[in-house]
Amino acid sequence: MLTRLLGELRTTIGVAAILAAGVTASAADEWRFGVITPAKQIWTQEAEAFGADVSEKLDGKHTVSVFHSGQLGNEGEMIRQLQSGALTFALITVSEVASRVPQFNALLAPGLVDSNENTAAVLRNSSVAADLMDNLSQIGVRGLGYGMAGNTQVITNVDAASLEDLAGSKVRITPSPAIRDLHRINGSNAIPLPLPAVYDAFANSQVDGVEINLDLMRILKLDAIGSTLLITNQSMFPSVLLVSERAWRQMSDEEKAAITEAAGPFLEKVIDRTVEGEVNGLAGFRDAGKLNIVELSPEDMSELAAAWDAEWADRLPMLPELRAQAAELSPKSE
Ligand code: BEZ
Repeated sequence: MLTRLLGELRTTIGVAAILAAGVTASAADEWRFGVITPAKQIWTQEAEAFGADVSEKLDGKHTVSVFHSGQLGNEGEMIRQLQSGALTFALITVSEVASRVPQFNALLAPGLVDSNENTAAVLRNSSVAADLMDNLSQIGVRGLGYGMAGNTQVITNVDAASLEDLAGSKVRITPSPAIRDLHRINGSNAIPLPLPAVYDAFANSQVDGVEINLDLMRILKLDAIGSTLLITNQSMFPSVLLVSERAWRQMSDEEKAAITEAAGPFLEKVIDRTVEGEVNGLAGFRDAGKLNIVELSPEDMSELAAAWDAEWADRLPMLPELRAQAAELSPKSE
């Protein structure tokens, strides 16, 4: 009896050891990529394509598994996983980055751009935006370039014709000091909420409005809840392709080269598709005819932007140069 039990125990331990070895071997070959966006959103779809490209460049030695919709937790948790090396890549919103690396708040300055085309030009060409990447090493990650979501707009149930009309209302924001201050100056109450929590919060009237880009407004069907769409272009909404510094240090030169080569076309695609998606999003809302769409002009943001700049000037010495570059890169100034 005892011999049989010992035999079974040995078998169980043996199987467990084989399984553990197998898991370790496959885990070593798997790189994880986190995004907060839903499955059918541009960032997620292009992250899948980036993973396939990297894998192909490395002859299948590594697979890249994409985790979307907060499967790995919110973006703060994803950054912690990048720091520990448990996560290799993430495309993270600039608001989350700015909460840890203050210089990135410059990219969320209100009234910096007047269109999504302008945002794309700034992220591709601004030397100020490019230089910000040097600050990422302080949080144990490496930045490989910018992607973007559409400029921030607001959908609301308040009968509003301007941002000032939202004074006293609760507006969902992505967590960042820059955006929180914009609402404090405006007199509106900023409610930080991660993307996966947005629909329920709006449907349950926990917030009166949602600050978000048009493509996600459409994907989340927020137009079924809101009545007014304010096209404010109040700030750019870049994302940063982050790589775990800890993982990067363990990679071969060949692996680093494959990732760097795949990153460029990936981010270009994200930017191009986003600009197109925002145009289609607005056209779709117009065609549906349900929302009261109010298009504000860049001048409508100027007072708010000046008050915001006055508060942030000391902390963001690069801001005047960034504003100058954004103005120069605006398609309207060509
Ligand atoms: C948001 O939280 O609003 C957001 C996140 C990722 C992409 C676009 C928007």
